[in-house]
Amino acid sequence: MNERLVVTCGRITFQNPVLAASGTFGYGSEFERFFPLASLGGFVTKTLFVEPRDGNPPPRVAETSAGMINSIGLANVGWEAFVAEKVPDLKAIVGAARMLVNIAGNAPDEYRAIAARVEGDRERVGCAGIEVNVSCPNVKEGGTNIGCDLHQFQAAVRGVREETSLPVFVKLSPNVADVVPFAACAIDEGADGVSLINTVYGMQIDIEKRRPVLGTGSGGLSGPAILPIGVYWTHKVRAAFPDLPILGIGGIATWRDALQYLLAGAHAIQVGTAAFVNPLACVEIIAGLERYCSQRDTTIAELSGAAHRGGRLAEAAVWTG
Ligand SMILES: Cc1cc2nc3c(=O)[nH]c(=O)nc-3n(C[C@H](O)[C@H](O)[C@H](O)COP(=O)(O)O)c2cc1C
Repeated sequence: MNERLVVTCGRITFQNPVLAASGTFGYGSEFERFFPLASLGGFVTKTLFVEPRDGNPPPRVAETSAGMINSIGLANVGWEAFVAEKVPDLKAIVGAARMLVNIAGNAPDEYRAIAARVEGDRERVGCAGIEVNVSCPNVKEGGTNIGCDLHQFQAAVRGVREETSLPVFVKLSPNVADVVPFAACAIDEGADGVSLINTVYGMQIDIEKRRPVLGTGSGGLSGPAILPIGVYWTHKVRAAFPDLPILGIGGIATWRDALQYLLAGAHAIQVGTAAFVNPLACVEIIAGLERYCSQRDTTIAELSGAAHRGGRLAEAAVWTG
């Protein structure tokens, strides 16, 4: 273990700042033939609901000019099957990397229910914490995205916090006018930190069929196209809450991308879409950060938030042109 890479995010210490993002590394075993997941800082599971879900009708993924768009619909095996069938292998594979269980529900009350299940099985699962995916439509109340509605967001986070004493990271949606009030709400409700960002709403049209490519019409955009969006929100949230642990996500494909998030204020980062293009992306990012730190005799902990230390930025508001 290289001490320069060790980071502490609230109550969790990671051996390095590179985590596998939810939904893009399956249940773990899918990537074992490429590299040992135990070499990562952490591994975030696919989103788990209490009950199994089939997800959305196909096509569910499409390539875009600078990334991909997906409407998987959070297909998952459900909590019981996850614990019985996936956890034994995953625990062995993850090793020294810390496992975060990512959870969600179809309505705020379902977040409470899945959090209670995780709490009940926490020893058996061996997870270091929970990541709460709030980017779900409320199927019981008109389909509003829970992560975009402060009232429902608050209810979901409160339910999770009341059911578990595990570290809780709330994964924020970028599909709002301002992410900062959502980060503030997560803090008020007792979250340990935030992960940001989830995918950005998008659509791709098949010009021959004159129809959207995805079965559901729209989906979530990820990959290099969203890197500056994630870096922007990371910087803004860190400026508003300098002590809040942040896991930066969105478009990270190289160590230079990862470093942007760290300098903007993230304490650790997650890699998603890049792993589909280059399964070794995480390993290469860890090596690149290690090189950068030793060449400059610094540590990741020192680098986190360094972009804020050059003094206040000139602009008070967002200039777009
Ligand atoms: C195919 C696919 C499946 C995903 N599944 C989940 C999921 O189950 N839960 C979740 O919180 N995020 C999910 N995400 C979002 C990623 O974890 C990540 O937040 C997002 O893709 C941005 O990072 P990236 O640009 O590195 O992919 C998924 C993304 C993709 C591309």
